[in-house]
Amino acid sequence: EQAGKGGYDHFMLKEINEQPTSLAQAVEGRIDPENGRITLEDLGPGTFAGIETVQLVACGTSYHAALYGSIALNRAGIRTTAVLANEYSISAPPVDDGTLVIAVTQSGETADTLSALRQAKLEGARTLTVTNVVGSTAARVATDALFIRAGPEIGVAATKTFSSQAIMLVLLARRIAADTQSDPPENGEALLAELAGMPDRTEDVLATSDAERIARRYHDSRSYFFIGRGLGFPVALEGALKFKEITYEHAEGFASGELKHGPLALVTPETPVFAVFTGEEDEKTLKNASEAQTRGAPVVAVCPAGHEALEIADGHLEIPETNSTLAGLFANVQLQLVSYHAASLLDRPIDKPRNLAKSVTVE
Ligand code: AGP
Repeated sequence: EQAGKGGYDHFMLKEINEQPTSLAQAVEGRIDPENGRITLEDLGPGTFAGIETVQLVACGTSYHAALYGSIALNRAGIRTTAVLANEYSISAPPVDDGTLVIAVTQSGETADTLSALRQAKLEGARTLTVTNVVGSTAARVATDALFIRAGPEIGVAATKTFSSQAIMLVLLARRIAADTQSDPPENGEALLAELAGMPDRTEDVLATSDAERIARRYHDSRSYFFIGRGLGFPVALEGALKFKEITYEHAEGFASGELKHGPLALVTPETPVFAVFTGEEDEKTLKNASEAQTRGAPVVAVCPAGHEALEIADGHLEIPETNSTLAGLFANVQLQLVSYHAASLLDRPIDKPRNLAKSVTVE
């Protein structure tokens, strides 16, 4: 087992550090350098013709990636909802042959997700899975499969697979738009250049992160809040899930604007707030973070250097200046590192948290 950790103390840290490679593998060969079109192996041009709506079904971290993807799809002009797979049997929006149901699942074996996928198929939807495991049940049940190529993930806490799923869904949004719209959004050169530069910039985030120092400063707090807006919201949810999973401390993620609608009552000097800034309506997120700070909460800003949030922030986790579609993924790397270091300081069994399994094969 030690050999498999490649010199790291835990699989989780190894897998966090593998993201420059796993992200490169997710994108490799999928963007035509000539024209910026998204090519998805045997899903040739026109595969998604006739698709009117998309439903993403998933659980846990994969659900957060699905939420990320649903925002990207909606922004590409495709009507999309993300549904928790374990709610699907009683809460699913209606489907027909113009509906594409995408099961997002690292393992391809999550019972809740498989059950939603099977139900959607039975009801006449077209189906696709975005998964990490070739030959998994999801890949066999869904009509089509797209593999995120992240490599094996051993740590129970999903890390590199979240970012690969999210990137895959960003690519897929562009591709479905190209297949279904007469005037799809341009594959802006800027976005494509940013995608190409992601592995190196992730490497920089990993090499220069201040997450250990931040974790050291705050790891004996009472509760931890994560806030973000737009694509920063699923990142906040994921930051909180990771934190509670491996530290056993209470953590919650909120849409930044929701803080004032209730959760603010919980805020004290003992509840650090990690605020994710993705470059969209940052001034509103900053106002929300300031409201928490006024009640005594330390604010850790996850934002680029020179950002206005740093005028008030008590701590800083730096992300590169980038397109808002990708900023959240850099922020997510920083939050993964905070969770990891906090759990390490608390001496938790990081790779195998109590009560959890890597793949949940019962409903
Ligand atoms: C995340 O750290 C957990 N391991 C869990 O939430 C996981 O994402 C969920 O059980 C779904 O698993 P899947 O991606 O294999 O379907």
